[in-house]
Amino acid sequence: MAQKIREAEGLLRSVPNHGEQILPRDGEKNVLITSALPYCNNVPHLGNIIGSTLSADVFARYNRTRNRRTLYICGTDEYGTASETQAIKEKITPRQLCNKYHSLHVETYKWFDIGFDYFGRTSTPLHTEISQEIYRNLGKNGYLERQTKEQTYCEDCSKFLADRFVEGTCPHCGADDARGDQCDSCSRTLDAIDLINPRCLIDKHHKVVTKESAHMYFRLDEIQPRTEEFVRRSWKEGHWSPNSVINAEGELIDARLKQGLRPSPVTRDLTWGVPVPVDEDDKDGMRGKVLYVWFEACIGYVSITANYSTEWKRWWFDHKNVKLYQFMGKDNVYFHTIFFPSVQIGDGRPWTMLHHINTTEFLNYEGGKFSKSKNRGVFGPAARETEVPVLPRTTMSC
Ligand code: 2FM
Ligand code: ZN
Repeated sequence: MAQKIREAEGLLRSVPNHGEQILPRDGEKNVLITSALPYCNNVPHLGNIIGSTLSADVFARYNRTRNRRTLYICGTDEYGTASETQAIKEKITPRQLCNKYHSLHVETYKWFDIGFDYFGRTSTPLHTEISQEIYRNLGKNGYLERQTKEQTYCEDCSKFLADRFVEGTCPHCGADDARGDQCDSCSRTLDAIDLINPRCLIDKHHKVVTKESAHMYFRLDEIQPRTEEFVRRSWKEGHWSPNSVINAEGELIDARLKQGLRPSPVTRDLTWGVPVPVDEDDKDGMRGKVLYVWFEACIGYVSITANYSTEWKRWWFDHKNVKLYQFMGKDNVYFHTIFFPSVQIGDGRPWTMLHHINTTEFLNYEGGKFSKSKNRGVFGPAARETEVPVLPRTTMSC
């Protein structure tokens, strides 16, 4: 009866019929919601759930009850060093690893009753196609440049080591267990090639040397004025919380923007990733390299939508009718407010861009930050084993 009354009042005009694809409608408020794509080298922990999927889910449910066309997208972020290294530890291929953890993510979110409209993954052919197209557009528009850099290289693994996978003595404080990107003892940011006596984390007896490698850098410095203009406009229109990028007085507080963005490498010497697209002559010598995981991760939102619907461009190229709301933990803010919008601007097409950002602080547990690598926190499957129901049991019957 209530349904009939609402239909009669025209209130259900935006609600798609069961099984119908959710697509935006001209002249209406259409809401595109994303929650950060979790890495696929471990099971989700409560930080992933509270930090992004639960809040996005509540917001999606709210918009659906307001009869707005609402599409809530998420999926696993599968490429990069983290998956490649975990696969080595588990003695399986990265593809097998991602299949395993993708299923565990799906099961866990299902148990938590998170209502995604589509939960996909980044290791798909469409993801490769869309990421490569964006990379090529940046090149055509003059926003890529080649640079060579010294990097740590393991002669026994025959590969370059990502900063997080090399350990050694800190050149500043002498601590013996500094990681390639940071020393936990003195908190200084490091460059892996400055570590004294560097060791490969796969096996500390491996021989680590430094070697030169060429990479393509994205000219963030060139794009900065347009990125800044976007940040100021979207911050105001989308009511960003006054702690990310800009403060309540409207001043830029992000250190990277304040100091001036620098060209940032968007390729890596890895195998598990989106291949860098190269022309026949491969003049930059990029054959065999992959796109940096943070370059293609945000493109995952787009490619996951494309795997949901062939009409994905109606969501992603319609800044007039579509509002994009993104939910994440605070460590992802830079990539969603500065890096990815810069990529969209450099690509040159009329993208739907971030409207509102919702961020969550780190969760603490037993005196420290939730951490998958340190196995500290509450993990999805363990929460499930408690048999505490995810929804409160209701005593009412109807
Ligand atoms: O921090 C993380 O877990 C990242 N995988 C988030 C990526 S969000 C987006 F860019 F895909
Ligand atoms: Zn090694």
